[in-house]
Amino acid sequence: MTLYRATFLHTPGNPFHDTHALQIEQDGGLLVRNGRIIQSGSYADVRAAHPAEPVEDLRGGLLLPGFVDTHVHFPQVRIIGGLGVPLLDWLDRYALPEEARFGDPTHAAAVAREFVSGLTRSGTTTALVFGSHFASAVDLLFQETERAGLRTVAGQVVSDRLLRPELHTTPELAYSEGKALIEKWHGKGRTRYAVTPRFSLSASEGILDACAALLSEFPDVHFTSHSNENLKEVETVRGLFPESRDYIDTYERAGLLNRRSVLAHNVHMTERELGALAAHKCTSAHCPCSNAALGSGFFPLKQHLAAGVHVSLGTDVGGGTGFSMLKEGLQAYFMQQLLGENGVPLEPAHLLYLATRAGAEALEMEGQIGDFSAGKAFDATLFRPQDGSTMQTVLAHAPSAERALASLFAGGTQADVARVWIEGEGVYTRPELSERAAVSA
Ligand code: GUN
Ligand code: ZN
Repeated sequence: MTLYRATFLHTPGNPFHDTHALQIEQDGGLLVRNGRIIQSGSYADVRAAHPAEPVEDLRGGLLLPGFVDTHVHFPQVRIIGGLGVPLLDWLDRYALPEEARFGDPTHAAAVAREFVSGLTRSGTTTALVFGSHFASAVDLLFQETERAGLRTVAGQVVSDRLLRPELHTTPELAYSEGKALIEKWHGKGRTRYAVTPRFSLSASEGILDACAALLSEFPDVHFTSHSNENLKEVETVRGLFPESRDYIDTYERAGLLNRRSVLAHNVHMTERELGALAAHKCTSAHCPCSNAALGSGFFPLKQHLAAGVHVSLGTDVGGGTGFSMLKEGLQAYFMQQLLGENGVPLEPAHLLYLATRAGAEALEMEGQIGDFSAGKAFDATLFRPQDGSTMQTVLAHAPSAERALASLFAGGTQADVARVWIEGEGVYTRPELSERAAVSA
């Protein structure tokens, strides 16, 4: 057992409904056994109950629950930063040529390492990942997430039109390759499977039916796709599915929407579509950096909340600008500010919730992860800025832990991540800190 002593903040509740959702322990204690939190509270209380357990002193930083990135693309790490073009041009110019290379296992394995390391060193401990169109590359991705210990929900991306021939499959292959990957990986350790048609624009009804067949055969797998991101995309989908009421209906009619369905973007939504997402208990993964970078539009958060649609956060690497969920939270804040009366003023509690517990809820993992309550896995990130950095100055002078949290969202980066744990296992330590530990040992 280990008793971690730290300033910690978490959101066991939902700050969009509950004004006391943010819990702060300025001098907190988390007692962890076999990767689970046994007791959570003030250091004094936990210490009094467990006077003999060894203490790990993490003071001098902020300990947060590990981030949950609910929309991120494995094969797009190397093309982050394709700025200046809207979605469909960006796909043609940057994303699809790179994704076509993933039939090569050497390339896929190298990028899988870069991808998983990018997530963990940014403080992300769970991710819903858009895989590759190549089943072999998805298998390599799962091998790497398993090796690194990352909590992962991912799947093979399937499409059968309008991309490029190397990336097209057939309904039969989509079903059989998906089934083989599910049987090999779903429920193995920290790995789960998500059925993943790329978007309705590149999917025939046959592909969506193959996806539905996998969901009915394996009812606890997840579902993810894109929706309503860009106006030209929405218009094209309307033409391709004349029988559908709207974009969301292309998935709804196929039987793909349920409690474990996560749809990314949802920028251009009708009332009916928001109502459908709420009725099926789906999650809308908000990707504000990507929405700004590709000029997709302003996410209608207020309308999502009014309709009762659950919202989480995703980086959407490589349409997004990097793996930082802090930056994503800040960008969500910016966009809502710019919306004025049509925006939702986001406070630090909302940003932390969106980056952690909301994602756990999206993946139906809120019983296991997302906050530091007793019974949860110890998935955690310690933010401790480097000596001499501006962030260190700002945090040292923050008048409260809540202000420090706001400052961390405003200015924190990968460089401020000191240590990351998943289920109590250390998965990342900033090199300079492990060197220091080696010197003092
Ligand atoms: N829609 C279909 N594919 C993609 C993708 O790779 N990124 C984004 N942002 N939107 C998409
Ligand atoms: Zn995406």
